[in-house]
Amino acid sequence: MNSQWKVKYVPKTDSSHSTLKDLLLSGEGRAGAVLVAREQNAGHGRLNRQWFSPLGNLALSLSLAPPQGFESKSYQYNLVTALALQELLQKDYQQTVQIKWPNDIYLSGKKLSGILSENLKGPEGALIIIGIGLNLNTTTSDFPEDLRERLTTLRDATGHEHDLEIFVKRLLTQLESLIKLYHQRGFAPIKSGIEENLLWRGEKIFVQEKDQEEIHGICEGLDEDGFLLLRDDSGCQKRILAGDVLCYS
Ligand code: BTN
Repeated sequence: MNSQWKVKYVPKTDSSHSTLKDLLLSGEGRAGAVLVAREQNAGHGRLNRQWFSPLGNLALSLSLAPPQGFESKSYQYNLVTALALQELLQKDYQQTVQIKWPNDIYLSGKKLSGILSENLKGPEGALIIIGIGLNLNTTTSDFPEDLRERLTTLRDATGHEHDLEIFVKRLLTQLESLIKLYHQRGFAPIKSGIEENLLWRGEKIFVQEKDQEEIHGICEGLDEDGFLLLRDDSGCQKRILAGDVLCYS
């Protein structure tokens, strides 16, 4: 892995993910490139859903060269990133957050951050691109009314603003050390970290996936690859590969 992040800040872009992806695919961008947009016009998340990213939020995309055997594991890099955020928020911002499988960070039952990872084939080989959106220095009133109930911001939670560049520096340090651990020891240590902080673990949840039947059951944790395990009413364990997780309450 490239240990020297090359961080670039831009005032505004459509989407740091799309901009960095274009640079990587054209050969202009390299592993280790980090693009931070202070504002995005057209941020997007999983399933191409709109990601609202006003001035004051963190919108960051980074690239890395996966070692052999990790080229197609963007879904695990997603979870590595979620754990890095959870550890950073606990250690440096005293916030106890939960990881909502597969790609969100929740604080007091509301969404604080979302992660989007993708496998790419660049001109010089495989790359992983990871995008992180986090509601940093905004307040809920900066968001469209229909979103306000479902999200929170670090500023609202702590009562004050946080320096973006310091946050980015800490995040990259935390992420780099967890990615190193993941490359050296595989997914097992990440799985246990995620399970300790998994939203709705032990509770009855259901999973919705486009054009598929809802799956209901008790959330038991993750399997060794990072997929979600549910125990249904008949005692049968179900392995969830993708979908939106929801809780009854
Ligand atoms: C999700 O909740 O589905 C993931 C949201 C990911 C948003 C980030 S913000 C930085 C990067 N640029 C994007 O357009 N998306 C990701």
